Amino acid sequence: MTVAIDGPSGSGKSSVSKGVARRLGLAYLDTGAMYRAATWWCLHRGEDLADQDAVAHAVRVMPLVMGLDPSGPTVHVDGTDVGEAIRSTEISTAVSAVATNLAVRAELRRLQRGVIEAERTPAGFAGGRGVVAEGRDITTVVAPDADVRVLLTASEEARLARRSLDVHGTADAAAVEATKDQVLRRDRDDATVSQFHVAADGVVTVDSSELDLEQTIDAVLSVVEQ
Ligand code: CDP
Repeated sequence: MTVAIDGPSGSGKSSVSKGVARRLGLAYLDTGAMYRAATWWCLHRGEDLADQDAVAHAVRVMPLVMGLDPSGPTVHVDGTDVGEAIRSTEISTAVSAVATNLAVRAELRRLQRGVIEAERTPAGFAGGRGVVAEGRDITTVVAPDADVRVLLTASEEARLARRSLDVHGTADAAAVEATKDQVLRRDRDDATVSQFHVAADGVVTVDSSELDLEQTIDAVLSVVEQ
């Protein structure tokens, strides 16, 4: 089974997707982590992010290994564990520049489809396997034929509070304000290449504004059961 979950920053997509994968016994693919890893790799190599061809080339040769266990997903680039480094403010600020590079998107989508295919039809097994893949364009471009497609939304207020809690450990007014610019700018930049604020045909919207994590996981699982 393939479950595709898209949503904007702070919608709770990563925690919800991991929870859904754990409950269903599926693998978990964080495609945002792949764009973050690509950004880390380009900066590590000293690429000029404005140089589209150089960035595209770097991403094509990136030795990326994604660990798909929803209880402990990992990201390695060229043997280095970058799981923490890719969450830095430096990467969060730079990632849209890499993610709006169309050649980069083509390459990462190819890798993502490879993972989804491999999980769907493991050699020698008839079924019962699959993956929860989350991102911005999974329901629409990467896996439009997924068995279940969900757009996870939340009010701007809820999204900023969650992101602020993630990054600053608090959602007080000052922390929310500090997070706001970065989140809204990234939303705007990302929206130029993928539409993730409006559900495409056949995609079920789950609004998590008023739900806690467990309730949101249950809401997605009830879409799976439909
Ligand atoms: O931090 P947040 O959960 O908002 O984002 P993320 O899922 O870690 O994704 C980081 C960035 O990767 C996004 O801001 C997009 O620029 C890019 N991305 C994308 O373009 N397409 C995807 N399928 C997933 C992420």
